[in-house]
Amino acid sequence: MPRLLSILVFAPALVYAQAGKHPNYDDEIKPLFARRCFACHSAGEMRSGLNLEAYAGVVKGGNSGDAVMAGRPTSSLLFKAVSHEEGAPQMPLGGAKLPDAEIALIREWIQQGLLETALSVPKGPAGPSLDYKPTALNKPAGGPAMPLELPPVTLAETERANPVTALAASPWAPLLAVAGHERIYLYDLAKRTPAGELAFPEGIPYVLRFSRDGATLLAGGGKGVQSGKVVLFDVKSGKRLAAIGQEMDVVLAADVTADGKLVALGGPKKIVKVYSVADGKELYELKKHTDWITALEFSPDGTRLATGDRAGGIFLWESASGVPVGNLAEHKDSVTSLGWRGDGQLLASGSEDGQIIIWNAGDGFPVATMAKAHQPKPPQGTFGTPPGGVLSVQFTPDGRLVSVGRDSTIRIWGMDGKQKAASNAAPALLTKVAVSADGRLCIAGDFQGRLLIWDGNGMVTLSPKALVTAAR
Ligand code: HEC
Repeated sequence: MPRLLSILVFAPALVYAQAGKHPNYDDEIKPLFARRCFACHSAGEMRSGLNLEAYAGVVKGGNSGDAVMAGRPTSSLLFKAVSHEEGAPQMPLGGAKLPDAEIALIREWIQQGLLETALSVPKGPAGPSLDYKPTALNKPAGGPAMPLELPPVTLAETERANPVTALAASPWAPLLAVAGHERIYLYDLAKRTPAGELAFPEGIPYVLRFSRDGATLLAGGGKGVQSGKVVLFDVKSGKRLAAIGQEMDVVLAADVTADGKLVALGGPKKIVKVYSVADGKELYELKKHTDWITALEFSPDGTRLATGDRAGGIFLWESASGVPVGNLAEHKDSVTSLGWRGDGQLLASGSEDGQIIIWNAGDGFPVATMAKAHQPKPPQGTFGTPPGGVLSVQFTPDGRLVSVGRDSTIRIWGMDGKQKAASNAAPALLTKVAVSADGRLCIAGDFQGRLLIWDGNGMVTLSPKALVTAAR
């Protein structure tokens, strides 16, 4: 009996400890500030108007405005100050930089919503539901489209295999599209056989995307510093439905709305252009980006457009008008990939800065951040940290996230930011990732033109030859 009693007494304490696992001001942050900052930022000594001795003082900020923004460490002045970011005041003033562990603790505290005590509720607006139920939005009425009789491709095959610069899986059919040199390979994921080819004499496809109903395949690309275009193909017949844009440089990012009416594209010119598919006319331009447009995607219902650039900037726009509705500033390096969850509530971004961020598309706040999502181990006998960029992210049909990055590994994530599964490391750099319509297969393209098909257990590697139709 005494034994049972002790369990009963201790059980709530255990729950309490787990609930309070995120750092909070009273227990962890205030003592840290007391040691490092109070000399100049207390109630009695408020340098630059900042009092770190009280929670309210931290939240109030200093002479420059907000010191901390819930959920956004790298946008918070206080975090920039302690991590000695260029342009920010270098804190503690005149002293040594804080140990990494303390900087990480401050980061985590801001990231997790600036908890005041172990019992506080995180600051920031309540996020959307992280649970996701797949819907029938954009389901094709006539069944999933598969290629039937495609026109023959007469362009010569290149000697050397190109890196997989673009990859897409149909959202409804077991069909994969893979970028090649001046062509697109189609592959049947159910039969594991080639399903035909489409000519793309415009150059190298840098983006491939099936329309939301799977009936149309969009290819965007071109020839460096010469020309760029977006072409829409009918998946069943392989016919060109439209060719859009007369760019003076390659198209690096493009998408078509679910209703097939709008195409957005962008590239090294830093401008996103939105075209009407019906007459090929440009409708408007988006000029807020300061660097190459590297990623863009319309929301599943077509009402919103997310665009990302090489400097880490992400903007949200109203698709019909081009009116900006959000500035998602958090990444510090090129945005390599953007993807909407099927219900349009969450947006995921991957970046060369090593982070995957899941954003609440409603208010533009991060819901979860996976820092160092694809950090490779340094080769033996070397020093320093190798680049750990994220190269491609994609939502699965059941609302999880798949990514590849510079560690050559495919990883699956939950919306809580936790990793659910990871593949073995592949022999070459993985450039792009796609997910089959049934959600069972993750497919990655690599730097040597191979495809890796991973079902959660084993990984099958297809050589570039395996994509070529035998009849040709
Ligand atoms: C030796 C004194 C000193 C110490 C210690 C110190 N600061 Fe400061 N802090 C200053 C001064 C002076 C400024 C104004 C500097 C400027 O504007 O260039 C400042 C400015 C700031 C600002 C910008 C406030 C605003 O709105 O302008 C932040 C944030 C900040 N400090 C955070 C910290 C943190 C966090 C610590 C402890 C890790 C710390 N400081 C330790 C003296 C100090």
